[in-house]
Amino acid sequence: MKKYNVGIIGYGWAATAHIAAINSTKQGQVTAVYSSRPLDATQVSLAHGGQIKPYQNLDAMLADPSLHVVDITSYPSQHRNHAVAAAQAGKHIILEKPMANSPQEVREIVAAATAHGVRGCVCFEARFSSQFQVTKAVVDEGLLGRLHYGEIDYYHGIGPWYGQFRWNTQKKDGGSALLTAGCHAMDALLMVMGSEVESVSSISTKSSSDIFKPYEYDTSSVTILRFANGAIGKSAAIVDCLQPYYFHTHLVGSEGSLLDNKFHSQKLNADRSHWSELSMKMLDSGDVSDHPYAAQFQTFFDALDENRDMPLTSFKEASRTFDVIFAADASAAQGGTCIHLTT
Ligand SMILES: NC(=O)c1ccc[n+]([C@@H]2O[C@H](COP(=O)([O-])OP(=O)(O)OC[C@H]3O[C@@H](n4cnc5c(N)ncnc54)[C@H](O)[C@@H]3O)[C@@H](O)[C@H]2O)c1
Repeated sequence: MKKYNVGIIGYGWAATAHIAAINSTKQGQVTAVYSSRPLDATQVSLAHGGQIKPYQNLDAMLADPSLHVVDITSYPSQHRNHAVAAAQAGKHIILEKPMANSPQEVREIVAAATAHGVRGCVCFEARFSSQFQVTKAVVDEGLLGRLHYGEIDYYHGIGPWYGQFRWNTQKKDGGSALLTAGCHAMDALLMVMGSEVESVSSISTKSSSDIFKPYEYDTSSVTILRFANGAIGKSAAIVDCLQPYYFHTHLVGSEGSLLDNKFHSQKLNADRSHWSELSMKMLDSGDVSDHPYAAQFQTFFDALDENRDMPLTSFKEASRTFDVIFAADASAAQGGTCIHLTT
Protein backbone atom coordinates (compact mmCIF):
# COMPACT_ATOMS: atom_id res chain seq x y z
CA MET A 1 0.00 0.00 0.00
CA LYS A 2 1.30 3.43 -0.94
CA LYS A 3 0.49 6.60 0.95
CA TYR A 4 -1.38 8.66 -1.69
CA ASN A 5 -4.29 7.25 -3.67
CA VAL A 6 -4.95 9.26 -6.80
CA GLY A 7 -8.18 9.57 -8.81
CA ILE A 8 -7.81 10.78 -12.39
CA ILE A 9 -10.38 12.97 -14.14
CA GLY A 10 -10.38 12.24 -17.88
CA TYR A 11 -8.95 9.17 -19.54
CA GLY A 12 -7.20 10.40 -22.67
CA TRP A 13 -3.68 10.90 -23.86
CA ALA A 14 -2.31 12.88 -20.93
CA ALA A 15 -4.05 10.60 -18.39
CA THR A 16 -2.28 7.47 -19.57
CA ALA A 17 1.13 9.18 -19.31
CA HIS A 18 0.21 10.45 -15.84
CA ILE A 19 -0.87 7.03 -14.55
CA ALA A 20 2.51 5.43 -15.36
CA ALA A 21 4.36 8.40 -13.85
CA ILE A 22 2.27 8.47 -10.65
CA ASN A 23 2.62 4.71 -10.19
CA SER A 24 6.40 5.04 -10.58
CA THR A 25 6.66 7.37 -7.55
CA LYS A 26 7.50 6.13 -4.05
CA GLN A 27 4.23 7.31 -2.47
CA GLY A 28 1.58 7.57 -5.21
CA GLN A 29 -0.73 5.10 -6.94
CA VAL A 30 -3.74 5.56 -9.20
CA THR A 31 -6.77 3.83 -7.72
CA ALA A 32 -9.67 5.53 -9.54
CA VAL A 33 -10.47 7.02 -12.95
CA TYR A 34 -13.48 9.18 -13.78
CA SER A 35 -14.35 9.19 -17.47
CA SER A 36 -17.45 10.17 -19.39
CA ARG A 37 -17.02 6.85 -21.22
CA PRO A 38 -17.91 3.57 -19.42
CA LEU A 39 -14.70 1.75 -18.51
CA ASP A 40 -14.20 -1.86 -17.44
CA ALA A 41 -12.48 -2.14 -14.03
CA THR A 42 -10.54 -5.29 -14.92
CA GLN A 43 -9.33 -3.95 -18.25
CA VAL A 44 -8.22 -0.59 -16.83
CA SER A 45 -6.49 -2.26 -13.87
CA LEU A 46 -4.73 -4.74 -16.14
CA ALA A 47 -3.65 -1.97 -18.52
CA HIS A 48 -1.93 0.05 -15.79
CA GLY A 49 -1.33 -2.34 -12.88
CA GLY A 50 -2.84 -2.10 -9.41
CA GLN A 51 -6.57 -1.89 -8.65
CA ILE A 52 -8.30 0.95 -10.48
CA LYS A 53 -11.99 1.69 -9.89
CA PRO A 54 -13.70 3.43 -12.83
CA TYR A 55 -16.37 6.05 -12.13
CA GLN A 56 -18.87 7.70 -14.46
CA ASN A 57 -20.10 10.02 -11.72
CA LEU A 58 -17.59 12.65 -10.60
CA ASP A 59 -19.33 13.39 -7.27
CA ALA A 60 -19.14 9.70 -6.38
CA MET A 61 -15.37 9.62 -7.06
CA LEU A 62 -14.77 12.84 -5.14
CA ALA A 63 -16.76 11.44 -2.19
CA ASP A 64 -14.42 8.43 -1.96
CA PRO A 65 -12.58 8.95 1.36
CA SER A 66 -9.72 6.66 0.28
CA LEU A 67 -8.61 9.21 -2.38
CA HIS A 68 -6.05 11.82 -1.34
CA VAL A 69 -5.24 13.44 -4.68
CA VAL A 70 -7.26 14.24 -7.81
CA ASP A 71 -5.43 14.54 -11.13
CA ILE A 72 -7.27 16.68 -13.70
CA THR A 73 -6.61 15.79 -17.36
CA SER A 74 -9.98 16.88 -18.77
CA TYR A 75 -10.53 19.52 -21.46
CA PRO A 76 -9.25 22.99 -20.49
CA SER A 77 -12.77 24.49 -20.39
CA GLN A 78 -13.60 21.99 -17.60
CA HIS A 79 -10.48 22.56 -15.48
CA ARG A 80 -12.02 25.28 -13.29
CA ASN A 81 -15.10 23.29 -12.30
CA HIS A 82 -13.17 20.06 -11.81
CA ALA A 83 -10.45 21.76 -9.73
CA VAL A 84 -12.89 23.68 -7.52
CA ALA A 85 -14.93 20.48 -6.93
CA ALA A 86 -11.76 18.57 -6.03
CA ALA A 87 -10.66 21.30 -3.60
CA GLN A 88 -14.11 21.37 -2.00
CA ALA A 89 -13.83 17.60 -1.52
CA GLY A 90 -10.52 18.17 0.31
CA LYS A 91 -8.33 16.50 -2.31
CA HIS A 92 -4.88 17.73 -3.30
CA ILE A 93 -4.73 18.51 -7.02
CA ILE A 94 -2.54 17.72 -10.00
CA LEU A 95 -3.75 19.99 -12.82
CA GLU A 96 -2.81 19.77 -16.48
CA LYS A 97 -1.97 22.96 -18.33
CA PRO A 98 -3.51 25.36 -19.01
CA MET A 99 -4.69 25.84 -15.42
CA ALA A 100 -7.77 27.38 -17.10
CA ASN A 101 -8.47 29.65 -20.05
CA SER A 102 -9.40 32.86 -18.18
CA PRO A 103 -7.81 34.86 -15.34
CA GLN A 104 -11.05 34.64 -13.33
CA GLU A 105 -11.11 30.84 -13.51
CA VAL A 106 -7.44 30.61 -12.45
CA ARG A 107 -8.16 32.93 -9.50
CA GLU A 108 -11.12 30.74 -8.48
CA ILE A 109 -9.00 27.58 -8.60
CA VAL A 110 -6.25 29.12 -6.44
CA ALA A 111 -8.83 30.57 -4.01
CA ALA A 112 -10.63 27.22 -3.64
CA ALA A 113 -7.36 25.39 -2.97
CA THR A 114 -6.36 27.97 -0.35
CA ALA A 115 -9.80 27.95 1.31
CA HIS A 116 -9.85 24.16 1.59
CA GLY A 117 -6.19 23.74 2.56
CA VAL A 118 -5.21 21.57 -0.41
CA ARG A 119 -2.00 21.81 -2.44
CA GLY A 120 -1.54 21.97 -6.18
CA CYS A 121 0.83 20.79 -8.90
CA VAL A 122 0.47 22.30 -12.39
CA CYS A 123 1.84 20.26 -15.29
CA PHE A 124 4.59 22.63 -16.36
CA GLU A 125 6.74 19.52 -16.35
CA ALA A 126 9.37 21.14 -18.62
CA ARG A 127 10.74 22.69 -15.42
CA PHE A 128 11.68 19.16 -14.33
CA SER A 129 13.21 18.17 -17.68
CA SER A 130 16.88 17.36 -17.98
CA GLN A 131 17.18 20.26 -20.45
CA PHE A 132 15.84 22.91 -18.10
CA GLN A 133 17.33 21.50 -14.91
CA VAL A 134 20.77 21.73 -16.57
CA THR A 135 20.03 25.11 -18.20
CA LYS A 136 18.92 26.52 -14.85
CA ALA A 137 22.03 25.12 -13.15
CA VAL A 138 24.25 26.85 -15.76
CA VAL A 139 22.45 30.13 -15.00
CA ASP A 140 22.45 29.63 -11.22
CA GLU A 141 26.17 28.79 -11.21
CA GLY A 142 26.75 32.20 -12.78
CA LEU A 143 28.39 30.79 -15.91
CA LEU A 144 26.43 33.22 -18.09
CA GLY A 145 26.80 36.11 -15.65
CA ARG A 146 23.79 38.40 -15.31
CA LEU A 147 21.18 37.61 -17.97
CA HIS A 148 19.99 40.66 -19.88
CA TYR A 149 18.21 38.84 -22.74
CA GLY A 150 16.38 35.54 -23.04
CA GLU A 151 14.22 33.96 -25.71
CA ILE A 152 12.45 30.66 -25.38
CA ASP A 153 10.12 29.65 -28.19
CA TYR A 154 7.71 26.81 -28.83
CA TYR A 155 7.38 25.36 -32.34
CA HIS A 156 4.99 22.43 -32.61
CA GLY A 157 2.61 21.97 -35.52
CA ILE A 158 -0.67 20.79 -33.98
CA GLY A 159 -2.60 19.64 -37.05
CA PRO A 160 -5.06 16.81 -37.81
CA TRP A 161 -2.26 14.27 -37.22
CA TYR A 162 -2.33 15.16 -33.52
CA GLY A 163 -5.08 13.82 -31.18
CA GLN A 164 -5.73 17.13 -29.44
CA PHE A 165 -6.59 18.78 -32.79
CA ARG A 166 -10.23 17.67 -32.51
CA TRP A 167 -10.88 19.94 -29.49
CA ASN A 168 -7.86 22.22 -29.59
CA THR A 169 -9.09 24.15 -32.63
CA GLN A 170 -11.98 25.64 -30.67
CA LYS A 171 -11.43 28.90 -28.81
CA LYS A 172 -13.30 27.49 -25.78
CA ASP A 173 -10.70 24.75 -25.17
CA GLY A 174 -7.61 25.82 -27.13
CA GLY A 175 -7.76 29.43 -25.95
CA SER A 176 -4.73 30.86 -27.73
CA ALA A 177 -1.35 29.79 -29.13
CA LEU A 178 0.13 30.54 -25.70
CA LEU A 179 -2.57 28.86 -23.62
CA THR A 180 -2.76 25.67 -25.62
CA ALA A 181 0.95 24.89 -25.86
CA GLY A 182 3.27 27.90 -25.97
CA CYS A 183 2.76 28.26 -22.21
CA HIS A 184 5.54 25.69 -21.68
CA ALA A 185 8.09 27.98 -23.39
CA MET A 186 6.84 31.12 -21.64
CA ASP A 187 6.97 29.29 -18.30
CA ALA A 188 10.52 28.07 -18.95
CA LEU A 189 11.57 31.63 -19.86
CA LEU A 190 10.13 32.99 -16.61
CA MET A 191 11.91 30.27 -14.64
CA VAL A 192 15.36 30.95 -16.11
CA MET A 193 15.12 34.75 -16.15
CA GLY A 194 14.22 34.65 -12.44
CA SER A 195 12.78 38.17 -12.22
CA GLU A 196 9.19 39.41 -12.06
CA VAL A 197 7.68 40.53 -15.37
CA GLU A 198 7.06 44.26 -15.51
CA SER A 199 5.36 44.56 -18.90
CA VAL A 200 4.44 42.56 -22.00
CA SER A 201 3.49 43.29 -25.56
CA SER A 202 2.27 40.61 -27.95
CA ILE A 203 1.11 40.30 -31.55
CA SER A 204 -0.42 37.31 -33.29
CA THR A 205 -1.35 35.90 -36.67
CA LYS A 206 -2.09 32.55 -38.31
CA SER A 207 -0.77 30.40 -41.14
CA SER A 208 -2.48 30.62 -44.55
CA SER A 209 -2.24 26.82 -44.88
CA ASP A 210 -5.61 25.02 -45.23
CA ILE A 211 -4.35 22.47 -42.70
CA PHE A 212 -4.79 24.94 -39.85
CA LYS A 213 -8.04 26.53 -41.12
CA PRO A 214 -10.24 24.92 -38.43
CA TYR A 215 -8.53 26.98 -35.71
CA GLU A 216 -10.87 29.64 -34.27
CA TYR A 217 -7.95 31.72 -32.96
CA ASP A 218 -4.51 32.96 -34.02
CA THR A 219 -2.07 30.06 -33.86
CA SER A 220 1.19 32.05 -33.97
CA SER A 221 2.09 34.72 -31.45
CA VAL A 222 5.20 36.49 -30.32
CA THR A 223 5.49 38.24 -26.97
CA ILE A 224 8.21 40.59 -25.79
CA LEU A 225 8.73 41.12 -22.09
CA ARG A 226 10.49 43.57 -19.81
CA PHE A 227 11.57 42.17 -16.44
CA ALA A 228 11.71 44.12 -13.18
CA ASN A 229 15.53 43.77 -13.08
CA GLY A 230 15.86 45.49 -16.46
CA ALA A 231 16.34 42.33 -18.55
CA ILE A 232 14.25 41.78 -21.69
CA GLY A 233 12.86 38.62 -23.26
CA LYS A 234 10.85 37.12 -26.07
CA SER A 235 8.65 34.04 -26.41
CA ALA A 236 7.09 32.80 -29.65
CA ALA A 237 4.21 30.31 -29.54
CA ILE A 238 3.81 28.66 -32.94
CA VAL A 239 1.33 25.80 -33.26
CA ASP A 240 0.74 26.15 -37.01
CA CYS A 241 4.23 25.29 -38.28
CA LEU A 242 5.21 22.46 -40.63
CA GLN A 243 8.56 21.31 -39.21
CA PRO A 244 9.89 19.07 -36.44
CA TYR A 245 9.03 19.94 -32.82
CA TYR A 246 11.50 22.55 -31.57
CA PHE A 247 11.83 24.13 -28.11
CA HIS A 248 14.24 26.97 -28.86
CA THR A 249 16.32 28.56 -26.08
CA HIS A 250 18.78 31.45 -26.37
CA LEU A 251 20.03 33.19 -23.23
CA VAL A 252 22.51 36.06 -23.25
CA GLY A 253 24.36 37.33 -20.18
CA SER A 254 27.34 39.38 -19.05
CA GLU A 255 29.66 36.31 -18.99
CA GLY A 256 28.35 34.23 -21.87
CA SER A 257 25.45 32.77 -23.84
CA LEU A 258 23.46 29.54 -24.04
CA LEU A 259 21.86 28.28 -27.24
CA ASP A 260 19.79 25.10 -26.75
CA ASN A 261 22.43 22.51 -25.70
CA LYS A 262 25.43 24.75 -26.42
CA PHE A 263 27.01 27.46 -24.33
CA HIS A 264 29.98 29.75 -24.00
CA SER A 265 31.23 31.15 -20.69
CA GLN A 266 34.07 33.65 -20.33
CA LYS A 267 34.52 32.20 -16.84
CA LEU A 268 35.84 28.94 -18.31
CA ASN A 269 38.35 30.66 -20.60
CA ALA A 270 37.02 28.57 -23.48
CA ASP A 271 37.35 29.63 -27.14
CA ARG A 272 34.56 32.17 -27.77
CA SER A 273 34.47 31.39 -31.49
CA HIS A 274 33.16 27.87 -30.78
CA TRP A 275 30.32 26.63 -28.60
CA SER A 276 30.92 24.17 -25.78
CA GLU A 277 28.36 21.39 -25.58
CA LEU A 278 26.10 20.38 -22.72
CA SER A 279 25.08 16.75 -22.43
CA MET A 280 21.38 16.63 -21.54
CA LYS A 281 18.11 15.15 -22.80
CA MET A 282 16.42 17.77 -24.95
CA LEU A 283 12.68 18.47 -25.07
CA ASP A 284 12.27 17.44 -28.67
CA SER A 285 8.79 15.95 -28.90
CA GLY A 286 5.21 16.76 -27.99
CA ASP A 287 4.68 13.12 -27.06
CA VAL A 288 3.70 13.11 -23.40
CA SER A 289 5.39 9.77 -22.78
CA ASP A 290 8.70 11.64 -23.20
CA HIS A 291 7.76 14.26 -20.63
CA PRO A 292 9.35 14.41 -17.17
CA TYR A 293 6.10 13.83 -15.26
CA ALA A 294 7.64 11.18 -12.97
CA ALA A 295 10.21 13.62 -11.51
CA GLN A 296 7.53 16.28 -11.15
CA PHE A 297 5.00 14.03 -9.40
CA GLN A 298 7.71 12.61 -7.12
CA THR A 299 8.53 16.17 -6.07
CA PHE A 300 4.81 16.87 -5.47
CA PHE A 301 4.33 13.82 -3.23
CA ASP A 302 7.54 14.64 -1.32
CA ALA A 303 6.17 18.14 -0.69
CA LEU A 304 2.83 16.68 0.51
CA ASP A 305 4.83 14.52 2.95
CA GLU A 306 6.42 17.70 4.28
CA ASN A 307 3.12 19.63 4.30
CA ARG A 308 4.46 22.42 2.09
CA ASP A 309 3.93 23.75 -1.43
CA MET A 310 6.00 21.97 -4.06
CA PRO A 311 8.92 23.84 -5.62
CA LEU A 312 8.73 25.15 -9.22
CA THR A 313 5.13 24.24 -10.18
CA SER A 314 2.82 25.01 -7.25
CA PHE A 315 -0.50 26.76 -7.98
CA LYS A 316 1.02 30.04 -6.78
CA GLU A 317 4.11 29.79 -9.00
CA ALA A 318 2.23 28.55 -12.08
CA SER A 319 -0.51 31.18 -11.76
CA ARG A 320 2.21 33.85 -12.10
CA THR A 321 3.01 32.43 -15.54
CA PHE A 322 -0.69 32.50 -16.45
CA ASP A 323 -0.91 36.16 -15.32
CA VAL A 324 1.79 36.92 -17.91
CA ILE A 325 0.05 34.82 -20.58
CA PHE A 326 -3.34 36.47 -20.02
CA ALA A 327 -1.66 39.89 -20.20
CA ALA A 328 0.10 38.86 -23.44
CA ASP A 329 -3.16 37.62 -24.99
CA ALA A 330 -4.91 40.84 -23.92
CA SER A 331 -2.10 42.80 -25.58
CA ALA A 332 -2.43 40.77 -28.81
CA ALA A 333 -6.20 41.36 -28.81
CA GLN A 334 -5.43 45.11 -28.71
CA GLY A 335 -2.90 44.90 -31.55
CA GLY A 336 0.21 44.80 -29.36
CA THR A 337 -0.46 47.45 -26.70
CA CYS A 338 2.11 47.33 -23.90
CA ILE A 339 0.47 45.94 -20.75
CA HIS A 340 1.99 46.55 -17.32
CA LEU A 341 1.62 43.81 -14.76
CA THR A 342 0.89 44.69 -11.19
CA THR A 343 2.47 42.46 -8.57
N1 LIG B 1 1.66 19.06 -20.18
C1 LIG B 1 1.65 18.64 -21.42
O1 LIG B 1 2.67 18.63 -22.10
C2 LIG B 1 0.37 18.15 -22.05
C3 LIG B 1 0.39 17.30 -23.15
C4 LIG B 1 -0.84 16.86 -23.67
C5 LIG B 1 -2.03 17.29 -23.10
N2 LIG B 1 -2.00 18.15 -22.04
C6 LIG B 1 -3.23 18.65 -21.41
O2 LIG B 1 -3.96 17.54 -20.88
C7 LIG B 1 -5.36 17.79 -20.99
C8 LIG B 1 -6.00 16.65 -21.77
O3 LIG B 1 -5.39 16.57 -23.05
P1 LIG B 1 -5.29 15.18 -23.83
O4 LIG B 1 -4.29 15.38 -24.90
O5 LIG B 1 -5.13 14.06 -22.87
O6 LIG B 1 -6.72 15.15 -24.49
P2 LIG B 1 -7.59 13.88 -24.82
O7 LIG B 1 -8.65 14.36 -25.73
O8 LIG B 1 -6.74 12.73 -25.22
O9 LIG B 1 -8.21 13.52 -23.40
C9 LIG B 1 -9.09 14.30 -22.72
C10 LIG B 1 -9.88 13.31 -21.90
O10 LIG B 1 -10.76 13.91 -21.04
C11 LIG B 1 -11.97 13.17 -21.14
N3 LIG B 1 -13.04 14.04 -20.68
C12 LIG B 1 -13.44 15.17 -21.23
N4 LIG B 1 -14.47 15.65 -20.55
C13 LIG B 1 -14.71 14.82 -19.53
C14 LIG B 1 -15.64 14.81 -18.47
N5 LIG B 1 -16.58 15.75 -18.32
N6 LIG B 1 -15.58 13.81 -17.64
C15 LIG B 1 -14.68 12.87 -17.76
N7 LIG B 1 -13.78 12.80 -18.74
C16 LIG B 1 -13.80 13.79 -19.61
C17 LIG B 1 -12.10 12.80 -22.57
O11 LIG B 1 -13.02 11.78 -22.79
C18 LIG B 1 -10.70 12.39 -22.81
O12 LIG B 1 -10.54 11.06 -22.42
C19 LIG B 1 -5.49 19.18 -21.65
O13 LIG B 1 -5.61 20.16 -20.66
C20 LIG B 1 -4.18 19.34 -22.39
O14 LIG B 1 -3.81 20.70 -22.56
C21 LIG B 1 -0.82 18.57 -21.52
